[in-house]
Amino acid sequence: MRAAKVETRFTKMFNIDYPIISAPMFLVSSVETVVATGQAGGLGAFPAFNYRPIENYAKAIKDIKSQSSAPFAINIIVQSSNKFLEQHIEHALENEVPMIITSLGGPKEVIKRAEGTKTKIFCNVVGLEHAKKVADLGADGLISAGAGAGGHAGETSPFALIPYLKKHVDLPLIAAGSIVDGKGMAAALALGADAIYMGTRFIASKESTVDQDYKNAIINAHPQDIVNTAQVDGFPGNFIRTPLLEKMGIEPGLIESLASHNKKVKRAISLFRAGKSLLAPDKTKVSYKTVYSAGHGVAMIDEILSADEIIQNTVNEYRQLLQNLPK
Ligand SMILES: Cc1cc2nc3c(=O)[nH]c(=O)nc-3n(C[C@H](O)[C@H](O)[C@H](O)COP(=O)(O)O)c2cc1C
Repeated sequence: MRAAKVETRFTKMFNIDYPIISAPMFLVSSVETVVATGQAGGLGAFPAFNYRPIENYAKAIKDIKSQSSAPFAINIIVQSSNKFLEQHIEHALENEVPMIITSLGGPKEVIKRAEGTKTKIFCNVVGLEHAKKVADLGADGLISAGAGAGGHAGETSPFALIPYLKKHVDLPLIAAGSIVDGKGMAAALALGADAIYMGTRFIASKESTVDQDYKNAIINAHPQDIVNTAQVDGFPGNFIRTPLLEKMGIEPGLIESLASHNKKVKRAISLFRAGKSLLAPDKTKVSYKTVYSAGHGVAMIDEILSADEIIQNTVNEYRQLLQNLPK
């Protein structure tokens, strides 16, 4: 039997059964993961850049809509280095995509463009300053990327970041970082979150189309195997330690170290690396194609499950915990 609904400010906003989002992941999330998450009662997300050229992006949106009526989200890089920003926004708004998630940059333009439409704008933030800024711009919600998350993680523990943001900014908040089961869900909601993001957990899902090696690496990794480095794409992110990652060098090189005090030079190096990583043509270069990003949550992932199993297990465990916590 399917678990009963868990109602929060987030589920009411999107009219879904559970406050669980399969997080957008570069080269991982797909039409398949989005549709499966939506059918399982959660909300699926994918990065616009997973579908290139633009025609494939437009087709992905149509494919999702034709296979499922569940709401879903598109993650858009809102930095000016995204040459396709205009088209990414336009296709999402034209198709009334229920949610846009912004990352790496200022969301002012996309928030303005979405005004008066059915699309809600949620912004990735790693601290209070950024959260207040996007709230003032009119964002509909926040995603707190805490330390230990897969991809570009923040530096603050989710235990501090979630209640801190919640205390100062009155917007629906999605908690991200090492949440893989009902225990994480219960903790995040207790800290004040309105929904949870699961990234790493969904890499090891049946619907995820990544190599079996990547899925196995998630299952076999321990938290101490996760290293935080800016060497892959210029921004600090979490990756599984592998021989290729070690060969590339996890520590910053001389140029990065010298530039670390100059914000502009540091940013220029980051953008250069990000571009190089995004466009890396073959399997020998270090990029998201050849190294495995994952968060500390690998600790508790030991089998490949379907999106439906992940969501049902999480909600059932969450409910049980609520009854069994020490009184
Ligand atoms: C392989 C990988 C790729 C990611 N790519 C993106 C991305 O393109 N855009 C984005 O906003 N977040 C990206 N993230 C971050 C996730 O959306 C999410 O914040 C994170 O996975 C949550 O932490 P968890 O992995 O511990 O569950 C990525 C994460 C991973 C693991």
